[in-house]
Amino acid sequence: MTTKHLYLLLIVALLGIGECFAQRNIITPVPWECEWGDKTLPLEKPLNLYFADKIENRESLIKELRDMGIAFKEVRRPARKNCINFGPGEGAWNSLEAYTLDITEEGITIDACGEAGYYYALQSLKQICAEYGVSGELPECHIYDSPRFDYRGVLIDISRHFRSVEFLKRQIDVMASLKMNRIHLHLTDAAGWRIEVESYPRLSSYAAWRTPHSWKEWWMGGRQFVDEGTEGAYGGYLTKAEAKELVAYAAERYITIIPEIEMPGHSDEVIAAYPELGCSHHPEHQGDLCIGKEVTFEMMQTILDEIIEIFPSEYIHIGGDEAGKSSWVECEDCQRRMREEGLANVDELQSYMIHRIEEYLNARGRQIIGWDEILEGGLAPNATVMSWRGEEGGRAAAAAKHSVVMSPHAYCYIDAPQDAPYSQPESIGGYLPLEKVYSYEPTPETMDRSVAQYIMGVQANLWAEYIVTDEHYEHMLWPRAIAIAEIGWSLPEHKDYALFRERAVRIVDDMIARGYTPFDLKNEIGNRPESLESIDHLAIGKAVEYLYPSFYYAPKYAAAGDATLTDGLRGTWTYADERWQGFLGRGGVDVIIDMGEVTHIESIAADFMQICGPGVFMPCLVEIWGSTDGKNYTLLTEIEHEVILDELPSFKSFGWKGSTEARYIRYKAHRSRYTGFLFVDEIVVK
Ligand code: ACM
Ligand code: ZN
Repeated sequence: MTTKHLYLLLIVALLGIGECFAQRNIITPVPWECEWGDKTLPLEKPLNLYFADKIENRESLIKELRDMGIAFKEVRRPARKNCINFGPGEGAWNSLEAYTLDITEEGITIDACGEAGYYYALQSLKQICAEYGVSGELPECHIYDSPRFDYRGVLIDISRHFRSVEFLKRQIDVMASLKMNRIHLHLTDAAGWRIEVESYPRLSSYAAWRTPHSWKEWWMGGRQFVDEGTEGAYGGYLTKAEAKELVAYAAERYITIIPEIEMPGHSDEVIAAYPELGCSHHPEHQGDLCIGKEVTFEMMQTILDEIIEIFPSEYIHIGGDEAGKSSWVECEDCQRRMREEGLANVDELQSYMIHRIEEYLNARGRQIIGWDEILEGGLAPNATVMSWRGEEGGRAAAAAKHSVVMSPHAYCYIDAPQDAPYSQPESIGGYLPLEKVYSYEPTPETMDRSVAQYIMGVQANLWAEYIVTDEHYEHMLWPRAIAIAEIGWSLPEHKDYALFRERAVRIVDDMIARGYTPFDLKNEIGNRPESLESIDHLAIGKAVEYLYPSFYYAPKYAAAGDATLTDGLRGTWTYADERWQGFLGRGGVDVIIDMGEVTHIESIAADFMQICGPGVFMPCLVEIWGSTDGKNYTLLTEIEHEVILDELPSFKSFGWKGSTEARYIRYKAHRSRYTGFLFVDEIVVK
């Protein structure tokens, strides 16, 4: 129990309140204000159900009551006893999503000023009923609740691997129960186009199908598409009717689906289907649309006409990320466009396209969202920015009075492993456990309030390169998206990881009981044990000389610079924790530690990791040498290691044990034939 809990208990004891907020740790996301009392509402008889006249979404509310198993009968007037009354929502409210929920001995009263508010009140009631049972007694409570941010979303990537409407609906059900309100549907990317477009049928009859199921195999093996119906074709797309059905299903649950149509980068599949949209007319491995040709705008605008007809969302995501931009330099059409428009560089060329597309969509009553690269070359006047490479783009856009959705990869990219990498399926990126996601703060105290007011919300992104099956997708999505729901909804002063985790475990257990396949949080292994405490050894603080200066550690993975390998800090499960030092290049690791004086040494060892997804490999050979004078070295050991591609993530120590006298220790780790990083955290000398 934390000091905060003890303090709360003391207040509760002094005030004589029956049970305090923290003692009934039931509702996720944590409500704005929630008080529990001693009395109870028995649920023996059907409740008298009354709706104030203005309430239109009665059918949906009745369905929710039925789903939670509450017995009721509708009445014409608000009853005083044994009732469930939905009030008229008079007075001032913070938000159309806000609600009050009161449970007393007499009954349940729910009030809200918007339809979503009534719906969200029932999501909270559902969680209370799940805890206390609908045939027993509900505890007295008063809840006032309102969201912290307007935008609480998840990106679902159905491009790399197609997912069915049924699968998406199942995720919508969970999201709605957590008061999440946006799905960013990543419909298009290099690996597949996933929405029917009548004007350009080859997008779905060709660019939605390939033969390898594995994305990696497809990516490495030529990135070919096949015609729909070809034997062994793998993929799929949403028909317009299916997409509309999905939009309606989500809307009934107060979730807006924001479609993403990527441009000008990540468009390999468009160019494969319609080569005239590429700069050179050669579809092979071209990812950027040609911005010089008018046909590009004709096609993208026609596609957007069809998209906005399906998706009523105010926002349309137009991508904007990771364009290679190199084909534009060579392309006559792009160069002509730059001359004619007075564009100084390729960043401005991309910005030209985004401006035109924004104008086109604004004229049709829609707004654009783009990844933070749309800042480069000049931001379109009304664009909303989704900040993914970090928070800097989001901050810059907000400072310029543009709305921003925060989704920085270090906290929100839930395609990374959430537990000890060896226990998890292959994935991209470093260790991102639930606790780290939960620790994310979109508008920290250090952010100027004039900037913070433009932060519209937060989003988890679940890219699917390595996620073939639905089960795996759910495993990655839940419970980490629950943390995003709570960050997006609850006040920062209510943040408490221990309490959140208890609730998350219950939600996960309930999901498993209902046939979902979330990561089973109660069996979490946790962080790398070695990283939890610093280690004491003879080389702490000793100088390290890096040999092969041209193959120095990579600046991005410098960790603590030259001090890293003798600072006593061991790495976590992720190479991106600024404890592991990353070496890229043919030289591998080659360092000399100067112990300062001749020292009696009995062991020398260093750990390496292998995580093939992001290209991190073990060395194939380690040599450890000792010297008293720094000139004449004796080989203490030579360790060979067979590096196996595609093996499960692993951590391994390469060391020597014995007895020697040395002042200088040379530790040399050779890279294998696989291109990628060597990571090492500490050279431990004893
Ligand atoms: C992104 O992850 N390229 C938005
Ligand atoms: Zn071009």
